[in-house]
Amino acid sequence: MLSPKHLTAALLLAASLPAAAQTRQETLLTSGWKFTKGDQPDGAKPEFNDAKWQAVRIPHDWAITGPFDGRNDQQVVKIEQNGEKEATMKSGRTGGLPFIGVGWYRRQLAVPALGKGGRAVLLFDGAMSNARVYLNGKEVMFWPYGYNSFSVDITPHLRAKGPNTLAVRLENQTEASRWYPGAGLYRNVHLITTQGAHVPVWGTYLTTPEVSAASATVKLKTKIEAPAGTTGLTLKTDLRDAKGQVVATATSKATAGQEVEQTFTVKSPKLWSPETPAMYVADSKILSGSAVQDAYKTPFGIRSFKFEKEKGFSLNGQPRKFKGVCNHHDLGPLGTAINVAALRHQLTILKDMGCDAIRTSHNMPAPELMQLCDEMGFMVMVESFDEWKTPKVKNGYSQYFDQWVEKDLVNMVHRDRNHPSAIMWSIGNEVPDQSSPNGPAIAKRLQDIVHREDPTRPVTMGMDRYGDDFKYGIAAVLDIPGFNYKPMLYPDAIKKLPQGFLLGSETASTVSSRGVYKFPVELAKNKQYPDNQSSSYDLEYCPWSQIPDIEFAAQDDLPYAMGEFVWTGFDYLGEPTPYDEKWPSHSSYFGIIDLASQPKDRYYLYRARWNPSQPTVHLLPHWTWPGREGQVTPVFCYTNGTSAELFVNGKSQGRQTKAAAGAADPQTRYRLQWKDVVYQPGSIKVVAYDAQGKTIGTEEIRTAGAPHHIKLVTDHQKLTADGQDLAYITARVEDAQGNLCPEATNELRFTVSGAGTFRAVGNGDATNLEAFQTPQMHAFKGQLVAIVQAGGTAGAVKVKASATGLKDGELQLVAGK
Ligand code: GAL
Repeated sequence: MLSPKHLTAALLLAASLPAAAQTRQETLLTSGWKFTKGDQPDGAKPEFNDAKWQAVRIPHDWAITGPFDGRNDQQVVKIEQNGEKEATMKSGRTGGLPFIGVGWYRRQLAVPALGKGGRAVLLFDGAMSNARVYLNGKEVMFWPYGYNSFSVDITPHLRAKGPNTLAVRLENQTEASRWYPGAGLYRNVHLITTQGAHVPVWGTYLTTPEVSAASATVKLKTKIEAPAGTTGLTLKTDLRDAKGQVVATATSKATAGQEVEQTFTVKSPKLWSPETPAMYVADSKILSGSAVQDAYKTPFGIRSFKFEKEKGFSLNGQPRKFKGVCNHHDLGPLGTAINVAALRHQLTILKDMGCDAIRTSHNMPAPELMQLCDEMGFMVMVESFDEWKTPKVKNGYSQYFDQWVEKDLVNMVHRDRNHPSAIMWSIGNEVPDQSSPNGPAIAKRLQDIVHREDPTRPVTMGMDRYGDDFKYGIAAVLDIPGFNYKPMLYPDAIKKLPQGFLLGSETASTVSSRGVYKFPVELAKNKQYPDNQSSSYDLEYCPWSQIPDIEFAAQDDLPYAMGEFVWTGFDYLGEPTPYDEKWPSHSSYFGIIDLASQPKDRYYLYRARWNPSQPTVHLLPHWTWPGREGQVTPVFCYTNGTSAELFVNGKSQGRQTKAAAGAADPQTRYRLQWKDVVYQPGSIKVVAYDAQGKTIGTEEIRTAGAPHHIKLVTDHQKLTADGQDLAYITARVEDAQGNLCPEATNELRFTVSGAGTFRAVGNGDATNLEAFQTPQMHAFKGQLVAIVQAGGTAGAVKVKASATGLKDGELQLVAGK
């Protein structure tokens, strides 16, 4: 898989070669598409008139524009894994968006001239779902699973003299998902042409069998395809470091239809890790004499890792525990349509939190996410399925399992096995087959397939049926036993596990709404409020889940626990537990970060634990409570200091110190809590100290006055004028002194002018039914986020936000080439 950067380089290279030597060409099919919803019996026919269809760009999510409606994909279900005893009506389970049904895409395809042995291949990074691909009226491919990548060789179906018509029919069934899956060609479509001998799609496999500080062995297997009878081929590969310097090289004889294995030694390799994500590239050329037939790049990293009995996980010889989050694939207000800048934005926020790992729950990720994880330093658990043979939802993956599971696993592994970020494969999440006597045999079969395609990485899965996992034996089959929500049972599990370690494959599922604080402050399971929100004191959880502190304590106290993947990093569309039955509510409350990518309080609880290199001192709640005067209003501080002193209007409320390991209440180990503070308007201020008594930071929150103006803030002022780059702009409703008005709900209207356009807006409120694509929205708890997209030309981008009764907010961005 070529990264966009490498792709450009490859294209430039191709462009500079004389026509006769022109080799591989890769094009993203982003423009020129027409789209319609609803079935079109003749939609595949070249002569079909699609003039009335909508012009769209790919990636495209046909349902994200809404409107939201609780009747979309209503599901009458008993969610067994949530312990439900009766089926009830769930309205927002898949986000309340209109993604069900058929959609058609069409486009003319200009294919570069193919010489002898030339091939044209279409590569779909993912198509949601039940994709039927037609070329010139003929069905050339069917791929049901909407999350997987697949390719099709269209050479035999091309018209010698064009034009060629590409059509894709997609169909989303009702009750097929437990979250919003998106709809349409939501990931990229590539046209790849090669001439003569070439490397097929995902045709290289690179491993690093020996790694030390002094040297590394790199093995590269390259598949070569060529017209029958081709002889005299050579494969020349240069390994280059990040600066482009050649660090090792090999030249081998190549035979058509065979795999060439090349071995290299890299001296003093720069090792890949989340902290030092050093990348290399294997730059291969297939030569016939001196003529280049194909040029193919395989980005890679050099690192070693081990999972060892009693010692757990180590990367490059250093023991570490996973500081991971699970994420669904949607990008909040942008829906599921992939955008690299949006992914980078998410990862940047996670990086600052100290997160070092991602679980792509519960399906194959976009290739761009894997490239970014390589580049930015995240270890990835690449996951495949939410179901095997036994359904969780009526029309889920179980219907395809028998026929498709092997093909789906093979494509997943082949696409992603060269990424240094990919650290383990997950064959499933909470599959009900755990409770079947057949479960272990299925697990073994899937694990064996994955091992066959990639013997270098272990296989895991998220298990939630603790009793059955041992009774039927699935827990003993997996390379890495992953438990969802079982920290209390780790000590019991380890006694029964032959592996000698275990992983918190899914943890916490604490629920909260950004900026919402409920009183009295208390630990509560499945708590519901009339406003469909959850409290941001981070004490509310589900019948099957916990507050973060319980997992923290287990991870800190048990050496064989290898870390955790928190449910979830970001809020996502659908699964609005605890309000699955109460519309309006279209998105989750589980996120550490809200749907519009604003950190909730919990972000700082994790940051304090996971990012030791930066001081974290965070206070909650806000301090604007007209009507609460004289009432107990607890104050929490999330900090990586060991103690802190709190002041209310300058008066000390005493110093709190974190409890030592072994404390009966795990909260006291990870949060500083002043539970008896009485609210008076003014300010709260905290001063935090490290173990030596040195101040590490302070934070003060003041009572806000009346809303006065809008302030716009961004951390991405310089955009790339590529038509894709995004700036996330936080709009804050502030009082005259610049304090956030934490209950403001003003409707903010945006205008974007110059070298950019308005793209979407979100406020992180799961109950909000305003469209993400209209440039106006009500602030939620005083804030919202507008997303502005760069155009194709350089220049200034002016963003203005206005609201009745408030002074405008303005911000200028610069889009450059
Ligand atoms: C888990 C499941 C996740 C999500 C989560 C919510 O059981 O694996 O997909 O549903 O619960 O807490």
